[in-house]
Amino acid sequence: MSQANRSGQTASTEIDLALFGALGDLAQRKLFPALFQLEREGLLDPNTRLLGLARQDYELEDFRKQIDKALHTYVKAEELDSEALERFLARLDFRQLDFTTVDGYAAIREWRQDGLARPMVVYLSVAAKLYGDICRHLDASGSLDEQSRVVVEKPIGYDLESSAEINDAIGEVFPESRVYRIDHYLGKETVQNLIALRFANPLFGTQWNQNHISHVEISVAEQVGIEGRWGYFDEAGQLRDMVQNHLLQLVCLIAMDPPANLDADAIRDEKVKVLKALKPFTDDMLGRDVVRGQYTAGTVNGKSVPGYLEEEGANTESHTETFVAMKTGVSNWRWAGVPFYIRTGKRMPEKLSQIIIHFRQQPHYIFDPDQRGLAANKLVIRLQPEEGIALEVLTKDSGLDKGMRLRRGPLHLDFNSAFPKTRIPDAYERLLLEVMKGQQYLFVRRDEVEHAWKWCDSLIEAWNDRAEPPRRYPAGSWGPVASIAMITQDGRSWYEDY
Ligand code: BG6
Repeated sequence: MSQANRSGQTASTEIDLALFGALGDLAQRKLFPALFQLEREGLLDPNTRLLGLARQDYELEDFRKQIDKALHTYVKAEELDSEALERFLARLDFRQLDFTTVDGYAAIREWRQDGLARPMVVYLSVAAKLYGDICRHLDASGSLDEQSRVVVEKPIGYDLESSAEINDAIGEVFPESRVYRIDHYLGKETVQNLIALRFANPLFGTQWNQNHISHVEISVAEQVGIEGRWGYFDEAGQLRDMVQNHLLQLVCLIAMDPPANLDADAIRDEKVKVLKALKPFTDDMLGRDVVRGQYTAGTVNGKSVPGYLEEEGANTESHTETFVAMKTGVSNWRWAGVPFYIRTGKRMPEKLSQIIIHFRQQPHYIFDPDQRGLAANKLVIRLQPEEGIALEVLTKDSGLDKGMRLRRGPLHLDFNSAFPKTRIPDAYERLLLEVMKGQQYLFVRRDEVEHAWKWCDSLIEAWNDRAEPPRRYPAGSWGPVASIAMITQDGRSWYEDY
């Protein structure tokens, strides 16, 4: 089966997919539900085969039952079309495998030999420290061919050095053109819409620079805490878990120059230029422009929740941050002098990801002086929930007694109500489809990962030198008070109403 790609050409989705970590949390929660949705939408080629690989010893029937259970848990009941479900479960195969020794990999080669000459996609939904071994064993066992692709999840490493080691190990087996590094934010519908918004609308294209934009704000707030991942999270912290990847990718898409076309490398070349131009951290910025926080017990959604140090498995001395806010910038002609305020945290009052582009005020203001604060347009790009785009404009307030009083209101595009019949796909559906078609533009290139690490490493080193504990904030709040002071010191505030 063929799918029309972005330039109208077609690409086949006929593949063999071998999924390592098939019984893991990500596979159950996201990957199988996404693959099922592709099945339901008729986007999986009839010949495409899916092989689950896990350490646990399951009979095929039990594996299928487990996936059926996961689909009933994570797919909406009204979307669980029984015919599609039957077709989907019938595609599944399973092998038990110890990922760390080459012995069992012959099973993958044998499974491959049953198939036609179709590309194999290897999806590694396992800890990054295993990537190198798995790639080597796949190669040594003769399971790969010239078309095989590998998909890897973040986090790739812990810093620049460890990520380079992992990338080297993958690179010994797969050339960069066949490596698909997932940052699931790039698969979100509204994140992709940033490219359409910026480069298909001359209205914004002409305004997108320091002459017209005063500052940019990105907030990615989560209500969840650590969700049983204390061991992983405590080594990472919010900077490595969210900023190094998701938030920096958003910064890139906002700040990049127009690519020459929509080819993967044209887009990624422009993103790398942004990463290279990120403002480096200096010691005096640490106290003023960067705030680290850690949540204490509080209330989220009306429910009491424990503090970070009281979570299951916690090391009560931990200084790991669960919140980070910073003022940064992109040092180039387009963005000189435009602050980028970014913040992300766990246990915030709502789950909310949004980008706000604050345009500059008019050079000469003629309305009521007391309304001056209103007088700038804002473009609000809501990534989740309720994806949408709103442009805040000023109009005259209605009524005979209002004179030329101004009123602020949105020109609002809410995707769910504007296109009610269109289901907004989960990020993983889009990403899996693009891997199957062999298109890399939504995946992160090695140099992007490494430049992002380089920038984060400089901040982490400075934090380590200072050895200050993070500031506390109660779960259910918008982070430490200092993160509010960080932006108000510039005469601005975080945008919270939509
Ligand atoms: C993951 C992080 O990459 O993204 C998690 O590891 C985080 O800690 C998640 O909760 C957030 O993703 P989303 O799509 O829910 O915003």
